Amino acid sequence: MTTLIKNGTVVTAADMARADVLIDGERIQAIGTGLAETGTAAAADTVIDAAGRYVMPGGIDVHTHMELPFGGTFASDDFATGTAAAAWGGTTTIVDFAVQSYGETLAQGLDRWLEKADPKSHIDYGLHLIVREISDGILREMDRMIDRGVPSFKLFMAYPGVFMLDDASIFRAMSRTADNGGLIMLHAENGGAIDVLVQRYLAEGKTAPVNHGLTRPSSMEGEATHRAIALAELAGVPVYIVHLSSREALSAVREGRSRGVPAYAETCPQYLYLSLDDLARPGFEGAKFVCSPPLRPADHQADLWRGLVTDDLQVVSTDHCPFDYKDQKILGKDDFSAIPNGLPGVEDRYTLLWDGGVAAGHISPTRFVELIATAPARMFGLYPRKGTLAPGADADVVVFNPDAERTLSATTHHMRVDYSCYEGRKVRGQPEVVMQRGNVLVRDGKFLGQPGAGRFLQRSRFSPAPAPA
Ligand code: URP
Ligand code: ZN
Ligand code: ZN
Repeated sequence: MTTLIKNGTVVTAADMARADVLIDGERIQAIGTGLAETGTAAAADTVIDAAGRYVMPGGIDVHTHMELPFGGTFASDDFATGTAAAAWGGTTTIVDFAVQSYGETLAQGLDRWLEKADPKSHIDYGLHLIVREISDGILREMDRMIDRGVPSFKLFMAYPGVFMLDDASIFRAMSRTADNGGLIMLHAENGGAIDVLVQRYLAEGKTAPVNHGLTRPSSMEGEATHRAIALAELAGVPVYIVHLSSREALSAVREGRSRGVPAYAETCPQYLYLSLDDLARPGFEGAKFVCSPPLRPADHQADLWRGLVTDDLQVVSTDHCPFDYKDQKILGKDDFSAIPNGLPGVEDRYTLLWDGGVAAGHISPTRFVELIATAPARMFGLYPRKGTLAPGADADVVVFNPDAERTLSATTHHMRVDYSCYEGRKVRGQPEVVMQRGNVLVRDGKFLGQPGAGRFLQRSRFSPAPAPA
């Protein structure tokens, strides 16, 4: 089965040029001008005319939580609904977080996630591991997880009693990665201090959703980010800060990088487009925007955009972790600390970053591809099979119409959640054709994917993305 995508503008992290793309089976066979007239390409089984369109790599979202058990409930998307929504939005690979339960081995956590994902996932997926307990046995097991293609481990500096680890445990895990080549990813907020503030606010009767933001100040994200980087420096390892939301945390990353520490960080669309004002919407509406770290005052956004330009932030992921407003967020009606933490976003990332990034003039199309696909693929051991368009790479391709205008809404999105954080927002850009390994997942507004067609990706060890030219 061969497919020719002709007349489009092909964009990679390095280049942008008018070219045709020839796909043979699951892989890209050739990229060049005038392919349409030559040999196999002229006789392709399927031809897609991409005139006026950008042809770009499928998105790679390295931070999702399908069916995460959290806050007394489960994230509302499973691997079937969440990966279908991802594909609708132009994302063809996710890296989700398997969770080690207390008392469990890492292998048990990983196997449970593989059982959930394998029969359901429409798109290829990798897994990180959330490590909740550190012991000599768990440290040895990290090596075995890396051999099974899971070389990245998320540790928490927040959520005492649920996920939080102390500095000694974090340092021990980092020291192990100095030997085994794994990567520690940190949720960097000072959970101890935040917990004291939360109890104080509740005792004062401050129960509304906005207090979630007020009790998790950006200074405590900055402090934890600084501490995470200092611990990594001491261990002599790279470190990756997840869902970075504030200028204080960004300064800590920038400062670490400027003195040569291999510190890396991602941010997410919610921190670029939403703010504390959303958390403060009237009534209980703010609950729709409860995530951690929380949304910040809007003036942090310009700093984050600058970080994406200067490469102090290397990745845009979603931290997709949806909970229904009516049935799930409501658990915290009288207590903001009981609102399940997390936002939907896996479907909107590609277009949001295009609209607010490229169309608004903050970043170039090549930088867009770097942030949305190439850097995540490199850092998380998927490159060059994923994350770029090149002969031999998997044919994970998005044909993107930059002129299409649409309005984001829960009435039209495909994520299994009853609200959109971006309800009514007008955006420019639409993934019109989405392909994974040469198979069309989305075309002409129809979904053609199959649950279980996505494959588990055994990833190789961390390798830093070179800074953009
Ligand atoms: O609020 C969030 N971010 N929920 C998902 C879990 C996490 O900390 O990433
Ligand atoms: Zn987190
Ligand atoms: Zn997360």
